Amino acid sequence: MRIFSARPRKYKAIVLGAGYRGRAYADYAKAHPGELEIVGVADPENARSIPAPRYWKDWRECLADRPEADIVMITMPDSLHYEPALLALEAGYHLLLEKPISPTEEQCREVIAKALEKKRLVIVGHVLRYTPYFGHIKAILDSGEIGEVVSIAHQESAGFFKVAHSYCRGNWANSKKSSPIIIAKCSHDFDLFAWWIGKPCRKVNSFGSIKVFRPENKPAGAATRCSECPAHIERNCIWSAIKMYIKYDNLKYLFADRSPEAMERLVRETEYGKCVYNCDNDVPDHQTVNMEFEGGATVCHVMAGFTERNVRTTRISCTRGEIVGNGKTLHICRFDGNDVETGVPLVLRVSNPSRHGGGDFNLVAAMLRMLSRDNPQEIAQVTAQALESHVIAFAAERSRLEGGRTIELH
Ligand SMILES: NC(=O)c1ccc[n+]([C@@H]2O[C@H](COP(=O)([O-])OP(=O)(O)OC[C@H]3O[C@@H](n4cnc5c(N)ncnc54)[C@H](O)[C@@H]3O)[C@@H](O)[C@H]2O)c1
Repeated sequence: MRIFSARPRKYKAIVLGAGYRGRAYADYAKAHPGELEIVGVADPENARSIPAPRYWKDWRECLADRPEADIVMITMPDSLHYEPALLALEAGYHLLLEKPISPTEEQCREVIAKALEKKRLVIVGHVLRYTPYFGHIKAILDSGEIGEVVSIAHQESAGFFKVAHSYCRGNWANSKKSSPIIIAKCSHDFDLFAWWIGKPCRKVNSFGSIKVFRPENKPAGAATRCSECPAHIERNCIWSAIKMYIKYDNLKYLFADRSPEAMERLVRETEYGKCVYNCDNDVPDHQTVNMEFEGGATVCHVMAGFTERNVRTTRISCTRGEIVGNGKTLHICRFDGNDVETGVPLVLRVSNPSRHGGGDFNLVAAMLRMLSRDNPQEIAQVTAQALESHVIAFAAERSRLEGGRTIELH
């Protein structure tokens, strides 16, 4: 028997913010032109880095024109999510909205409430649940073969270079200009915990502070910019911007123009060339969060800034077995003695060139599939779920600022 599957129609999207994330999602249209078309891009600086028939300098101009499209991708800085999200939902677009939904809990709730009222889909950029690796963990837990989750110990090793880049010098260094690190960096992890356990989180507490990136740790004689620092100090500084952006390659993927001239300019003229001990950072460089979920499962999440690699490691203890994940492979220990060491099975391994272990493209693909199914219940459920991770993250930050007080969630 031949099965005819209805091909989802082609969707049209507008991108607001053509930076690293905007390009990552827009690349899906290049790889799958039959499924997605980018019909316009708004960005004051980088718009033309994404091919499209229309460009605007600012998101407001774009939304005021009401371009014909199904989806608005909001991939601008954190402080530019709330207002465009509300306007786009009001105008009837579905949203691919980068996390955080907004830097305040009230605004996050308002955006999700508006989406539910307008019956629009909001997919938040929680890309990890769309990766084959984390999806495989979910499949093992859902199969019930190792019983129920009892506790999770999870570490997000941020990588020392990424912490200096994003949370000391860059866009997420100051919580008043962007969001607290536990929201910006770890809403992904809270999304995973809530998804794996499948029950709401009830209690949260948290501790964390700035250990390294403080003015008093600055070496005597160091300058305020790496390009002006005495050579003997710069040479011995592991945080040197000259090393991070000019000599080494591991952060260049974040920039549209990676030419040697652009990287020199970056170090000489922008915040990325500042001495790490002289930035206006206020977000912790390490933070721990404890959670208790309905039914008693507990989770300990460690955000560690000072690690060699940028990787997540996980240990999930269940009633009949344990999963130990190193970010690539999973060791599934069954207490009946039938242990297995497994990578992600072939059926789940979708080879696509996107970052985040394939999660970026899988998220877009999942969104297009949901739109083509057009199931109002699914749309409402997925949209409402996006809030869960943020509620945990905001509670964690409140707890940290109140000396670790336990916050109850209702
Ligand atoms: N899901 C993830 O894993 C993940 C990873 C990194 C960043 N993010 C989030 O994605 C968002 C974007 O981050 P990024 O790393 O792409 O930043 P980015 O700086 O590379 O890109 C942001 C873009 O927005 C543009 N922009 C600024 N003001 C604008 C305006 N008024 N109108 C239109 N465009 C405007 C900027 O010019 C820039 O090109 C942030 O909210 C961030 O927290 C998510």
